[in-house]
Formats: sequence, C-alpha cells, structure tokens
Amino acid sequence: MKLSLIAAIDENKLIGSAEGGLPWQGIEQDRDHFRSYVRGKGLLLGRKTYEEMEGWFGLDHRPYILTRNRNYAPKSQVRVAFSFDEIIRTAEKEAENELVVCGGAAIYERTINYADLIILTILHTTFTVESEAKYFPDWHSKDFIEIKRQDFSPSAERDFGMSILHLKCATN
Ligand SMILES: NC(=O)c1ccc[n+]([C@@H]2O[C@H](COP(=O)([O-])OP(=O)(O)OC[C@H]3O[C@@H](n4cnc5c(N)ncnc54)[C@H](OP(=O)(O)O)[C@@H]3O)[C@@H](O)[C@H]2O)c1
Repeated sequence: MKLSLIAAIDENKLIGSAEGGLPWQGIEQDRDHFRSYVRGKGLLLGRKTYEEMEGWFGLDHRPYILTRNRNYAPKSQVRVAFSFDEIIRTAEKEAENELVVCGGAAIYERTINYADLIILTILHTTFTVESEAKYFPDWHSKDFIEIKRQDFSPSAERDFGMSILHLKCATN
C-alpha cells in the first residue's frame, strides 16, 4: 500500500494554527485539486482536522480518524483509531491501494517518515496566525525527488502564485 501526504503550505511551511482553520481563505483551485486527488482513496486525519472538515465527507468516504481518546464519539460514519500502526494494519487488510494523510500537523509529523509520496500545494507568499503556528514537517533532509510540478500565476482569486508538487521518496 502506498502512503501519501497531501497538504497546502506557505513559503514558511505554515499550514494552520492551534486554534484551527487554514491561515488563508479557501483557494478553489487547491480545493479542486484536493478533492480530485483523494477521490476513491483511503484517508487519514487527525481528530482536530477531522472536526474542521466533518461536513465535507460524503458517503463514499469513510476516513480513519486518529485520536487518543478511547471514548471519542464522532458525529459521522468514520473509522476511529488509536494508533497509526492500527490504521496501517486495517487499511492493508482492506486492500486499500493508497492511504492519503490529510493532516494536521501532528499527523504529518507522525507519518512523514513512511511517506512514499508528498503532494504539496505551495502558496508563494507568507501568512501569519494569531495562535500557535502549525507547520508541515521538513522533507528536505529526506530523499524526496520532484516527479511532477504545475505552476500557477496569480489570479483574480489570489494575488500570489502557487505550485503543486509531487515529491516521491527515492528510498521507499
Ligand atoms: N494546510 C493544510 O493542508 C492543512 C491540512 C490539514 C490540517 N491543517 C490545519 O492544521 C491544524 C491542525 O493541526 P493539529 O496538529 O493541531 O491537529 P491534528 O493533527 O488535526 O489533530 C491532532 C489530534 O490527533 C490526535 N493524535 C495526534 N497524534 C496522535 C497519535 N500519535 N496517536 C493517536 N492520536 C493522535 C489527537 O487527538 P485527541 O486530542 O482526540 O486525542 C490530537 O489532538 C489546523 O489549523 C488545520 O486547519 C492544514
């Protein structure tokens, strides 16, 4: 089973904050890219990100949600799990071809060492957040090679450019 991480980051690798939410207004082009990439795949989210995205999951998604809370009662049909290892075992048993890690920061940090692929939307600007900033982990020290790149100029929706990169782990 392939493990992928998908995220949108700014030039400082900022992805969010302790108080939750994205540092930027939703970017339609990135949302479309996310939707299209995750369609039909196994998804893994941290409990906090799941609660932010709860309304987003349709009947065709049954994501794995990671929490340490044994009494966690999600509002929708998801698979609650208490460790990454447990999710890997279940996903392999269910013959998932690809498991896509959708964040947040704690979950990217936990899984990046096992990633076969990282799909990054890089927003070519910087943002600030009011509470503790959350970042995507550094991937440069690991063996990731760019295998695909799309560059987008600023648009009516955003006054900065963005790039979508596919980075493949050379050693996995
Ligand atoms: N820019 C992007 O692409 C992107 C993508 C996703 C999220 N985000 C942003 O990232 C921020 C949230 O990130 P976050 O790090 O605060 O939260 P998170 O990773 O979404 O969730 C953290 C929670 O996951 C559970 N957890 C973490 N590690 C675990 C482990 N090893 N075993 C079991 N459970 C574990 C814990 O849940 P319990 O507390 O229930 O135990 C923990 O509180 C938000 O601002 C969100 O909008 C951005």
